[in-house]
This record gives sequence, structure tokens and C-alpha cells, in this order.
Amino acid sequence: MKAVVCREWSGPEALRIEDVEAPPLSARAVRIRVHAAGVNFADTLMIAGKYQVKPAFPFTPGLEVAGEAVEIGSGVGHLQPGQRVLAFLRSGGGYAEEVVVDADAAVPIPDAMDFVTAAGFPVVYGTSHFALTYRGRLKPGETLLVLGAAGGVGLTAVEIGKQLGARVIAAAGGADKLAVARDRGADEVIDYRRENIRDRVRELTGGLGADVVFDPVGGDAFDQALRAVNWEARMLVIGFASGRIQSVPANLILVKNISVIGVVWGAQAERDPVLISRNLADLLDWWEAGKLRPHIAATFPLAATGAAMQALLSRRHSGKIVVEV
Ligand SMILES: NC(=O)c1ccc[n+]([C@@H]2O[C@H](COP(=O)([O-])OP(=O)(O)OC[C@H]3O[C@@H](n4cnc5c(N)ncnc54)[C@H](OP(=O)(O)O)[C@@H]3O)[C@@H](O)[C@H]2O)c1
Repeated sequence: MKAVVCREWSGPEALRIEDVEAPPLSARAVRIRVHAAGVNFADTLMIAGKYQVKPAFPFTPGLEVAGEAVEIGSGVGHLQPGQRVLAFLRSGGGYAEEVVVDADAAVPIPDAMDFVTAAGFPVVYGTSHFALTYRGRLKPGETLLVLGAAGGVGLTAVEIGKQLGARVIAAAGGADKLAVARDRGADEVIDYRRENIRDRVRELTGGLGADVVFDPVGGDAFDQALRAVNWEARMLVIGFASGRIQSVPANLILVKNISVIGVVWGAQAERDPVLISRNLADLLDWWEAGKLRPHIAATFPLAATGAAMQALLSRRHSGKIVVEV
């Protein structure tokens, strides 16, 4: 089969498409013919050797796919050949014509959902939902501040925050991105290229600050947001897209009973695939009910996977980029 191969820690430009052996099937697994694979910031970390998971060379990156189940392991009872499914792959492998995944991680896709939309669904909606519910305990009526609010996980946090009944303040860089966040339900917006997050959040909350902060950006954005939170706020540490991992001054979290909470959806999915698949199935129900509107910014062919990752790093796009296989 054809697959994108990474042979050394590198940038997206070094990725090549090659003919490789299709992975073997085990009793508890399913083989998926991949139709589309979602692009994530974490792909760029994985191929650079900066991600939590460091596969042995040569390896194929790609953390999420949608496609057709073509071969089912002998110990699997709940899937049929021909079924349309999506799946998360913690160790990569998605930018390929076929993947083999633990059958518990394969989630059936609604008939009306196309493969491109499905491929861009699990990581961003799964992470945002897990972060805001399981980790952040966001309550109706609370104020949620989302940083990087037009990016992959940021935009889905805006949508899910609204579904959970929060007042959502979306912070991102530039008018186009803020317009996308508004369209997905943001009540207020902050352009952090020209506005100070701390000052604007205080202004928008009558001096109180945000109750929950969803932060995939880190660095300066986190530092400013930490100074604009309410009593008993929860700061959800999602990622460090800015490139700087912030340190947290303990005195600031003490004075208002603030919790700084780590969120790692991928590792949780590996530890508990049944829980994560159930959550994804619920989120697909929300999609069917019209509550979620995934935003696909661009698609690329498999041979241009490196270019797709470069497009993500360019910060020009909102929402998701997807590779079609
Ligand atoms: N903890 C978890 O379980 C989990 C799950 C998924 C993703 N993540 C992490 O969340 C972060 C975002 O992932 P994603 O896939 O949503 O990425 P993405 O679509 O590229 O979004 C990242 C956003 O960060 C902002 N940003 C700020 N500084 C940046 C910089 N120097 N370079 C690139 N973007 C920058 C950009 O928005 P502006 O241009 O508006 O600033 C961009 O929209 C990554 O760190 C990723 O590893 C964590």
C-alpha cells in the first residue's frame, strides 16, 4: 500500500510517499481502508521528535482517519465489513491507504457525514469535550475564555462551550478568524494581535474574569489569561502552539483558589478506548442533531501531506485541514 513515511526527525518537507507492507491484523483489531485523514498540530511535533509518542523509524504519521472497515478480527463482534468508521490512532499511521486499529477505537459514522468531515472530527471534538466536561467541569452560565479560538481544538471548544451553556469569549489573531469563531457561537471576541487579553477579559466580565480558560496556545497568551480569571477558575492546559511552555507562578494560583489542570486526550483514549469511543459516539449524535458544525478549511491529496502540515503551521487557516486518500 502507499503511505507517507518519516525516516528522520524533520519538518513536513522531508516526508515522502512510499510503497510499504500493509499492517497485519490481530484478533481484536479492524482493518480500515482510509478515505481521509485529519491533520493535527501534533503531527508536526511527532515528525520533529517533540511529541509524547516517539515511534521507531521508519514510521507513518497521522492521528485520525475515516474510512471503510474492510477486514474484522476474529474476536470482534460489533463491527461489520463495509461499515463506515472513524478512529483515533495514538501512535500514528493514518496517512496511508490502510490502517489497523483496536476495534474498540473504531466508531461508526452517521450515514449523512462524509469521510472528510469524519476524519477531522475525533481529535478536536474529543479533546474539547473531554477538557471542558471531564477535566474543566464547565457549568451553564459560566464564562469560558478560549485561546487560539479559530484553530482546530479552539474552534470546537467554542462550539462545545456554547452547547454546555457557557458565555464564550473567543481570542484569536485577526478579524477573519474571529468572524469564524463568532459564526460558531462566540459571544465576545478578542483580537490578541492588537488587544491585551487580560484587559479585554476584565472589561467583558465587569472585572470578575473568566471561570474556565481553554488554552492550546500557551506562552504569553497563558500568562495574560492567568491574570484575567475569576475566583475558583480552572485553567485547562491543552498545548503550546506558540512554542513556549509557560511556567505557572504558584502565588497567583493561590490567591484565588485557581486550578491549573492538565489535559491529555490522546493518552486517555489509549488507556480507556471504550470511554473515549462512547464520548465520540455522543458527539456524533450532537452532529446529527445539528448542534455541531465542523469547519474544514482545506483538503490535500495524500502525496501532499507535507504541504498540508505546512498549511496548518502557516496559521492562515481556521478549523481543520484534511488529507484525502
Ligand atoms: N492535550 C491534548 O489532548 C491535545 C489535543 C489536541 C491538540 N492539542 C494541542 O493543541 C494545540 C493546537 O492544536 P491544533 O491541532 O488545534 O492546531 P491548530 O489548528 O494549528 O491551531 C493552533 C492555533 O494556535 C494559534 N497559535 C498561536 N501561536 C502559534 C504559533 N506560533 N504557531 C502556530 N499556531 C499558533 C493559532 O491561532 P492564532 O493565529 O489565532 O493565534 C492556531 O489557530 C497544539 O499544541 C496541540 O498539540 C492537545
